[in-house]
Amino acid sequence: MTRTLRSAIVGTGFMGDVHARAVRAAGGTVACVAGSSAERAEAAAGRFAAERAAASAADAITAADVDLVHICTPNASHRELAELAIAAGKHVICEKPLALSSGDTGALLAAADRAGIVHAVPFAYRFYSTVRTARARVAGGYAGAIRLLHGTYLQDWLRDDTASNWRVDPALGGRTRVFGDIGVHWCDLAEFVSGHCITRLDAQFLTAHPERGPREDRRRVDTEDCVTVTFRTDRGAIGTVVLSQVSTGHKNRLWLSVEGDAQSLVFDQENPETLWAGLHDRVELVPRAAGDPNRYDVVPVGHPQGYQECFTALVRDVHDAIGGAVPDGLPTFADGHRAAVLTDAVVRSATTGTSVDIGP
Ligand SMILES: NC(=O)c1ccc[n+]([C@@H]2O[C@H](COP(=O)([O-])OP(=O)(O)OC[C@H]3O[C@@H](n4cnc5c(N)ncnc54)[C@H](O)[C@@H]3O)[C@@H](O)[C@H]2O)c1
Repeated sequence: MTRTLRSAIVGTGFMGDVHARAVRAAGGTVACVAGSSAERAEAAAGRFAAERAAASAADAITAADVDLVHICTPNASHRELAELAIAAGKHVICEKPLALSSGDTGALLAAADRAGIVHAVPFAYRFYSTVRTARARVAGGYAGAIRLLHGTYLQDWLRDDTASNWRVDPALGGRTRVFGDIGVHWCDLAEFVSGHCITRLDAQFLTAHPERGPREDRRRVDTEDCVTVTFRTDRGAIGTVVLSQVSTGHKNRLWLSVEGDAQSLVFDQENPETLWAGLHDRVELVPRAAGDPNRYDVVPVGHPQGYQECFTALVRDVHDAIGGAVPDGLPTFADGHRAAVLTDAVVRSATTGTSVDIGP
């Protein structure tokens, strides 16, 4: 019987909660949790069903009884915390963006590979069963040659100029907010499903609110609210994506269309149980697990799965990788580095007004 893997969770916010539930559902133990203060860790320990609250992030990461570290803190802290975990010989799941520049993500990837640890970045949308179905149709040639990739990732939680968050501050979130926070998810998914790599792009930024925060504490905003990117791929497709955190009424509308000579395939994150497939003479609504359940179908079709199950599946695949398996499609630090390369290119294009070429 394999040993139960023991996780340390660093960060007690939205993602800390999601990771803690995923660890438990994947059969692991939440050994400890660290927050931005010992008090916050104490408060989260019960909620996370953690065995203990750690005094600091360093204590959690280097604890002798921890196998796997989950970094769920604001972006600017990722590099330092991941380096600490790698140096301690721990396996690491580090939230996206892996770090704030491709120089930093390249260094983390090299260090993680040298250390021989298992590493992952939660591009969790890969773990929807219907995403795997779309990817299999493209890889199997059923969609034909892919000509167009397009879509959106739209949210509205920052539509009001009184709304703010650490992501608005480049010192904590990075110099791009919308692309760095959600654009990387869309690009990862588009490349994952299509097998294409974006090689050239043009980006535009719009900052809808140049100041944010409550009336008594207004702060200048140096990060964008909306992004458009047009691009070309290594295998002859072109595409566009529209990204926003101020699109009223859109909550988490990650929508991707992959269009080939034989089929167009549409994945809609807010309706992930069904894949839309458009053929010349008919339209198919392909339910999850239709005829061919994959490892990401945990309950029978008709019983909706969602976002949380994606994280459970990711943690389960990380556990399997620690056990020596090579799970197909596990997003690693290499994918986190790829996202940072695209992020650098998007910022360069948006700030210089020029097209930018990207290596593989
Ligand atoms: N993969 C995904 O789908 C996804 C979704 C949302 C967020 N994220 C990523 O997860 C990370 C966290 O985002 P969130 O939405 O949970 O933010 P959040 O603000 O809800 O939580 C961040 C937490 O980190 C704690 N913290 C800050 N500095 C710390 C430190 N040095 N040590 C320990 N704890 C510290 C804060 O107190 C807070 O509890 C970000 O990098 C974000 O990009 C990923």
